[in-house]
Amino acid sequence: MYLSAIVVAAGKGERLRSKVSKPLIKICNKPVIIYSLEILSKCGSIKDIIIAANSLNIDAIKREVKRYKINKVKGIVSGGIRRQDSVENGLKAVNNKADFVLVHDAARPFINNKIVLSTISQAKKYGASIAGVPVKATIKEVHSPQSTAHGNLIVKRTIDREKLWEVQTPQVFKKNLLLEAYEKYSDADVTDDAMLLEKMGVKVGVVLGSYNNIKITTPEDLIIAEAIAKIRK
Ligand code: CTP
Ligand code: MG
Repeated sequence: MYLSAIVVAAGKGERLRSKVSKPLIKICNKPVIIYSLEILSKCGSIKDIIIAANSLNIDAIKREVKRYKINKVKGIVSGGIRRQDSVENGLKAVNNKADFVLVHDAARPFINNKIVLSTISQAKKYGASIAGVPVKATIKEVHSPQSTAHGNLIVKRTIDREKLWEVQTPQVFKKNLLLEAYEKYSDADVTDDAMLLEKMGVKVGVVLGSYNNIKITTPEDLIIAEAIAKIRK
């Protein structure tokens, strides 16, 4: 098995509204992107790492990668408009020898070696695997029916939580399957890569991630991230 990792970091961070770009924000003095790069680079199964970043950040990320001696990073490519375009750009840059790829969001700093290893071993079994956690909240579908004033929301139904999992990265795939999915469904807008393989009818294995594996998305996530980073130190 030859496994390459793609870390996507080319988003705009619109919901975070921070002056500093999300992958470069410091959590306990360390840039967000470095946390996951350190875990991935320490994993023996991962041979090399490609980063997809906003072209304005490529130099700054290169400097941090060098400073933290993340030697497995073999390339930093420009991202695309949608997350999936960034993954696709990363895919084009992975080593020809790779038969599996691991895709990870730079916005999720708090992965650990156990999650990485379990997604890898599950992908060997099924060809595709994702990390996730059972949903803790009560989830309801809401709508704005015509009978109510515009914008008034009404509950439509409560969704059975037992079967709901909140999906995270890492996600690991047989490279050929992911390439095929990207070729077939380039027009579909998706929020994770597994959705594309699901469309092809591929079984996607699910492994337990961690509630600490948050995606830094809105400003309050930075406070939570500082707290998680302190516990982990
Ligand atoms: N991402 C990417 N290229 C894009 C969009 C997203 O590489 N065109 C990456 C982000 O950098 C992030 C991950 O995908 O690491 C998850 O995306 P998200 O949390 O939505 O981050 P942003 O897109 O940056 O934030 P927002 O949606 O608020 O603008
Ligand atoms: Mg986004």
